[in-house]
Amino acid sequence: MLKEIIEKVEQFFEEGKREIEEIKDDELLEKWRIKFLGRKSYLNKLFSQISSFSNEEKVIFGKKLNQIKQKLIELYEKTKSEIKKEEIKYNVFLPGKKIKIGNLHPITKIIDEIVQIFYKIGFAIAEGPEIETDYYNFTALNTPEEHPARDIWDTFYIEKERNILLRTHTSPVQIRIMEKYPPPLRIIAPGKCFRRDSFDSSHSPMFHQIEGLMVDRDIKFTHLKGILTYFIYEFFKREVRVVFSPSYFPFTEPSAEVSISCVICEGKGCSTCGNTGFLEILGCGMVHPNVFKNVGYNNKIYTGFAFGMGVERLAMLKYQIDDIRHFYYNDLRFLEQF
Ligand code: DAH
Repeated sequence: MLKEIIEKVEQFFEEGKREIEEIKDDELLEKWRIKFLGRKSYLNKLFSQISSFSNEEKVIFGKKLNQIKQKLIELYEKTKSEIKKEEIKYNVFLPGKKIKIGNLHPITKIIDEIVQIFYKIGFAIAEGPEIETDYYNFTALNTPEEHPARDIWDTFYIEKERNILLRTHTSPVQIRIMEKYPPPLRIIAPGKCFRRDSFDSSHSPMFHQIEGLMVDRDIKFTHLKGILTYFIYEFFKREVRVVFSPSYFPFTEPSAEVSISCVICEGKGCSTCGNTGFLEILGCGMVHPNVFKNVGYNNKIYTGFAFGMGVERLAMLKYQIDDIRHFYYNDLRFLEQF
């Protein structure tokens, strides 16, 4: 009697094993679980029959039932996890793996923003080489050798004898463009510049500038003032006071520096503006007749204005960044904020 029942239990297990092999989804697996492990299953019924056996038989039978039950549970668990694995492999509705894409560097963003402001009023985008000759960087810009103004733009020479250097400003792009195209023209030229400066909170031996140039008949200082004031309002997107004060650059006459009321203290005076309430943001002026002569423009017919601004400085003021080095450390905690 016991032997027969044990044989039946084993058959029941074999049947369960055979059936579960075909199962590939949760719904069928649940049906299988009810049939082989559920409360009304054949196995469970046998558990309630244990009491009808002798003590000795009870031990053997009970042990057998528990063994079979355990083996069925293992089959169930194994199949369940296999189904899950398959689902993960094929479920097109699961969120995809996120690919981390970077964002533009804040300097690139600011350059795009500034260029866009000028582009909207008809300035074309120009570029020039970062490795320049002494002629384009200085001489053609009315800064001959021995000119004292060369000192403030002392730079890295690649070949001193052949006068090849890293450009100290974007102004040589003016010359290259005017040599190539006849007037009138309006250009905006962003790019890298280099100077022999030590790396501190406000200096970097490599930095970015944006150069502007407009040449036509009858261009006056008022055009320069109007366009730069428009630019400043568009860029800072808030009320700032704009002041033009006399300055000196060899390639412009007259020359001016443009300052805005301090964006940190609103003009009250703080450490950023050195208690003056104002911050200088760019240099500009009317193109010097000698520069026109150097590129073969007729300076009796044409006049023009030019300007140059430091991108890092403008970015620092706009976002209130206190150290220029943040732009180059490549710390994602900084870069991801833009
Ligand atoms: N190149 C000058 C500098 O690096 C900035 C500048 C001043 C550019 C006046 C100009 C200009 O085009 O007209 O300091």
